[in-house]
Formats: sequence, structure tokens, C-alpha cells
Amino acid sequence: MTNIEKIAAEIDHFQIENNEQLEQFRLQFLSKKSELQTLLGQIKEVAPEERKAFGQQVNELKQKAQQIFDEQKERLESSVVFAGGAEDYSRPVPTPGLGSLHPISVIMNEVCTIFEDIGFHIVDGPEIEDDWHVFSALNFAEEHPARDMQDTFFIELRPDVLLRTHTSSVQVRAMESQKPPLRVICPGRVYRNEVITARSHCFFHQMEALYVAENVSFADMKQTLLHFAREMFGAETEIRLRPSYFPFTEPSAEMDISCKICGGKGCTVCKHTGWVEILGCGMVDPNVLDSCGIDSTKYTGYAIGIGIERMTMLKYKINDIRLFFENDIRFLQQFKSTTL
Ligand code: DAH
Repeated sequence: MTNIEKIAAEIDHFQIENNEQLEQFRLQFLSKKSELQTLLGQIKEVAPEERKAFGQQVNELKQKAQQIFDEQKERLESSVVFAGGAEDYSRPVPTPGLGSLHPISVIMNEVCTIFEDIGFHIVDGPEIEDDWHVFSALNFAEEHPARDMQDTFFIELRPDVLLRTHTSSVQVRAMESQKPPLRVICPGRVYRNEVITARSHCFFHQMEALYVAENVSFADMKQTLLHFAREMFGAETEIRLRPSYFPFTEPSAEMDISCKICGGKGCTVCKHTGWVEILGCGMVDPNVLDSCGIDSTKYTGYAIGIGIERMTMLKYKINDIRLFFENDIRFLQQFKSTTL
């Protein structure tokens, strides 16, 4: 193992400025007689319990050396040097590596487009919010645990100001500033005072959908949800609604989709049930409509809250939420095919 580390450091520090150095690099790391090649030959002799790790490391190193060699060879070949030693400055500039959309943005855009196509408009709201828009207007009881510092980030000097814990706060702003009929989506980042683990993070993304008009029914919501699930996860996707509770909707439900990983047969992602929960939803509680200045005897509405990380993890089969926020280029590059 110490040999591997030594060679890895040598590879990292090797300067390749001309063809002689390139050849030197090849002899030292890639030729039959190189130390690296010798290590490859030794894999068989390593104790069985260490063999896998050893083999993997040696092979990764070999690939790395080969990649550096290929890149540098191409670079040297493409940089035409005139007899006098000057570079040809009229050559086209090499294109810098293009970035790509973050997987969360890809899925956020996809979710927004599905709703925009059926008449929803995007509205935006602040991430630093007040108690009214995050809790009170949404019918949260005074002693609700979400109002506790254990769950929510408050601003120390202004106890009334906090980081929004959900995008439902934006539906309040939309209802306060617009008259029904109202059909909006509110994408954005939210914050919670959570321990960071593979499944939870202290910030993540949600998208809220809200439809308020005359005679909006639970059946309307269900149809919209089925449309959304099938657009997002494919035409064969099934949904099921389970009764739930949220202070701002009545009745409330959680929606599951048939598991995309195992096709409904049962696996660890769906905990062997064949179903995966993807969102919360319900009919806007009349108290909420009244708090926002909308006549609850005349109008009804539904609201839907979608967790974007969860959706992205399911879509791309990612099992650790922390990967989204580490900005490790090796992770991000896997989404390169997605257009900017
Ligand atoms: N705001 C909820 C949360 O963050 C999600 C949610 C559930 C939004 C139900 C809704 C809804 O609009 O109807 O957990």
C-alpha cells in the first residue's frame, strides 16, 4: 500500500512540458517494466482479504496514469510550435469544459414544466420569512412543535423572523396578493434544524402547487396528481392517496407512487411495500383561505407540496442526500448529458 501511495504522489507531481518528458512518463508508469506494472503482477500474491482493495487501487492508479498520458499527448500534439519556438496564436482557442445543470435543477425544471403546461404560474417568495407566512396564516397552533427552535432556524435578534421551513409560505403570499382563480407553483429552498444524515439535510428544495377557484374538488386534485406522476415517472405509474394530517389542509393526504426501482415487487427503497411516498397534499383549510383574505364560503382550493430531493433520488437512484450539496465534480459530471 505504501508503494501505491508513493507512485500516486509521483504521478501527481510529474511535469510534462515536452515530448521527452511525455516519453519519460510512459516509461516510468505505463511500460511493461514500470513499478506500476510490477504491482499489477503482484495482485495474486496479496492476502485474500486485502486483495480486492489492493487490486482496485492499483487499477485506478493505472487508469489515472493512462488518462494523464492521453491528455498530455493530445495537448502536445495539438500545440504547433514554430521553428523559432513561438506558439501559433492564430489557432482556434480550445473550448473550456462546459458546466451542466445540477440534478436538483434538472428535476425542479421538469416538475415546474409539468405544472406550467397545465396552466400554473411560477411565483417566488423570500427564504427569510416571518411567523405569519410560515405558520400562523397556515393554521399552525401556537404550541405546534414546528415553531420550536429544535425544528426551525430563528433569527436570534428578531424572534418573529425565521428561515422558511416549507414553500407553503409562498401560497400565503400568493393568496394575499392575488384574487381567485389562482393557479400557482412556488419552487424554492427551505430550511430545517435537522441533523445531516443520508436521508435528511438542514436545507433542501420543495415545490408547492396551489389552485383556488370556485368548485375546486378533491377529484380535481387527484386527477392533477395522477397526471403529474405519469408525466414524471412514466405512463404506467400508479398512485395511491393515504389519509394524513397537515394544519393547512382538510382533508389531507400523502401520495405514494408504485415503486420505480422494483416495479412494485418490493425492495429496500420501498421497504418491501411496492409503494414510495412522494408528496403531501389536501384541500386548503377554510381557515387558511380566510386568513389570506379569500372568502371561504365562495372558494375552495387544493395545495400540493413536493420534495425535490426525494424526487431526484428516486429518478436517478441516488441513496444519499448529502451528495447533492458536496459539489463533488465526479458526482456532478454524471449529469452532463442534461442541457443547460
Ligand atoms: N408543507 C408541507 C411540508 O413541508 C408539505 C405539504 C403538505 C404542502 C401538504 C402542501 C400540502 O401544500 O397540501 O411538510
